[in-house]
Amino acid sequence: MRRENTMQDGAQVLHLRNGGTSLVLDLSAAGMPAFVHWGADLGDLSDSELAGLVSASLVQRVSGGLDHPARLSILPSEAYGWQGSPGLVGSRAGRDFSPAFVTTAVETDAASVVVSGLDPAAGLELNAELSLDGSGTLLQRLRVRNAGEDDYELERLSATLPLPSSAREILDTSGRHLRERMPQRHPFVMGSHVRESRKGRPGADSTLFLTVGTPGFGFERGLVHGAHLAWSGNHRMLVERQVTGAAILQGGELLAPGEVRLKPGESYLSPPLIASWGDGLNAFTARLHAHVRARPSHPRSPRPVTLNTWEAVYFAHDLDGLRDLASVGARVGVERFVLDDGWFRGRRDDRAGLGDWFVDEAIWPHGLDPLIEHVHGLDMQFGLWVEPEMVNDDSDLARAHPEWVLQTGDRMPIEGRQQQVLDLSHAGAYAYVRERMLALLADHSIDYLKWDHNRDLIDAGSTITGRAAVHDNVEALYRLLDDLKAAHPGLEIESCASGGARVDLGILAHTDRIWTSDCIDPLERLPIQKYTGVVVPYELMGAHVGGTVSHSTGRTSTLPLRSATALFGHFGIESDLRTFSEPELDALAAWVGYHQRHRAMFHTGTAVHAELDDDTGDLRGVVAEDLSRAVFVFTQVRSSDTYPPAPLRFPGLDDDIVYRVGIPVEPASDPIAGQSALEWAQSGVELSGRVLRTVGVAAPVLFPQHCIVIEMAAID
Ligand code: DGJ
Repeated sequence: MRRENTMQDGAQVLHLRNGGTSLVLDLSAAGMPAFVHWGADLGDLSDSELAGLVSASLVQRVSGGLDHPARLSILPSEAYGWQGSPGLVGSRAGRDFSPAFVTTAVETDAASVVVSGLDPAAGLELNAELSLDGSGTLLQRLRVRNAGEDDYELERLSATLPLPSSAREILDTSGRHLRERMPQRHPFVMGSHVRESRKGRPGADSTLFLTVGTPGFGFERGLVHGAHLAWSGNHRMLVERQVTGAAILQGGELLAPGEVRLKPGESYLSPPLIASWGDGLNAFTARLHAHVRARPSHPRSPRPVTLNTWEAVYFAHDLDGLRDLASVGARVGVERFVLDDGWFRGRRDDRAGLGDWFVDEAIWPHGLDPLIEHVHGLDMQFGLWVEPEMVNDDSDLARAHPEWVLQTGDRMPIEGRQQQVLDLSHAGAYAYVRERMLALLADHSIDYLKWDHNRDLIDAGSTITGRAAVHDNVEALYRLLDDLKAAHPGLEIESCASGGARVDLGILAHTDRIWTSDCIDPLERLPIQKYTGVVVPYELMGAHVGGTVSHSTGRTSTLPLRSATALFGHFGIESDLRTFSEPELDALAAWVGYHQRHRAMFHTGTAVHAELDDDTGDLRGVVAEDLSRAVFVFTQVRSSDTYPPAPLRFPGLDDDIVYRVGIPVEPASDPIAGQSALEWAQSGVELSGRVLRTVGVAAPVLFPQHCIVIEMAAID
């Protein structure tokens, strides 16, 4: 039931509860509502208990401080004594620089609230929407409207959340091309830890999430709070600890000077800040995954096993060879064949052609249809690579329309991969790209687009306004993706950006999977997928089996390691299968079959990572929603100091269920080494979830860079 609270009808403390999370706001605080609690469910509290909770949270005045200690409101502002990072930054040519909103209305139901605020002197209106979904995930969005008479230049509108005083260690991610989302930890000391992305896409080095928890918190335990910003452009994430004891998490878009100038009546909506908490990252992630999976647009059909041609043939396109590749793919169980870069006019390497989205008649004299028909004849979907936001200098498009290229003043940006970025906020560029994509989709039977984006944006200005246009381009991109999907219901789109440089829930609201990384070496993939998976569920995360020798590291790895690692994702293959021997193809087919039998569980179940006592190994798994089954993979990443390594303990199972634990015969894992058989691995063993979690099983002796699959099934 919704109720209008005009601030006169008495309810001064708001308690939102859902999915095991409580959010308590004090509506009577000066200015906008103040946070009292975000985290564990506090139960059903009476009005007087809520009033007591607020009263108990008020800190006393201290020497040297302001006469009224500041409280953390949903829009922290200097006007109310907040001396940390403000939620709103902007001005009218310097005036109205310090907003002082008062709450004018509160509209709420049990799990969400919309607070309206007004600063009459500054001529600004604010709307803050905070909601808790059934998983206990908190979503926050802010909108500011210019109700004044002249332009308001917005520099920042960031969502803010409180952190508990136990939060003393930060975990976020950095990375690079081929090694995205590497974890980094720091003590949460006084001051701020700011992660900014200025690359026009999140970037390989951006943080996918910003979490803060009790010192040493891990996947299995330790209270942790954190958030992800669902936005595919520049952003700023911050955690800040103040001498007052206040600790906050803040996230919003990073705007260039003058990028958002609100004319009278115009408004700006911040991207969603999606926040979670839990005892350990497994619990933190479970909330986020449930949130993502609850979206109406979430892909629910079995994720087709994909064969991508990139590492198989690169630019060497020829119809017969690709037909053969598809046929071998069908032999091992491939369900979707994706023709990667190299099919369009002038694209013989990565120096030319981007923008000229016409099939290259020189390479494809009969067009793409003979390949598409062959692929469909094998009962596989056909996917096509495109990079619509980009243009090579050496292209007909760039020669005809230099004004469609994002640029600054009279200079072109430094190139990246010999290419520039189109300004999709330019109506002409947008219409051209849209028309070309729609024509490709109309002229060919295409089930899937791999949508690439292979350079950072810099100096990204519009030739029409002369102003920075990253924000407008992100919005135009989202619109374009939606346009194409609306025109072609059922079309799926993969978001790729030099591998995994545009991984966020903003792009995933308009696409169906991300390409996690250009590196498909399984050993590198273990941490990449582990930390990408903190936010992105496996069904949205491309994971391919490559060749024996990795193209990006030169490392050799076994087929079980390559395949078992790809189970934790949207499974695919990216290698020239024509060079595989028959036994290799049989073995790969067995892994594809295993994935197909278990993908429903991998793609709906709970992802768990174990905190091993021995950090030379990696133990990850997926537990079925009803807790009746699980598959884990143990990888001996490098040699252990103990021989054999420490026991394996398994999180995420039901304490009270007895499971049959064993290693499947097919597909064959890497061999267990050692002087004698490992008893439980040979004959299986029956143990309760409690025993598996607390005591575990003896670890196998594996060569480094080898792995085994371990299955658990509830005994009836
Ligand atoms: C970068 C992508 O990440 C690769 O998978 C591949 O599609 C190349 N671009 C093609 O240029």
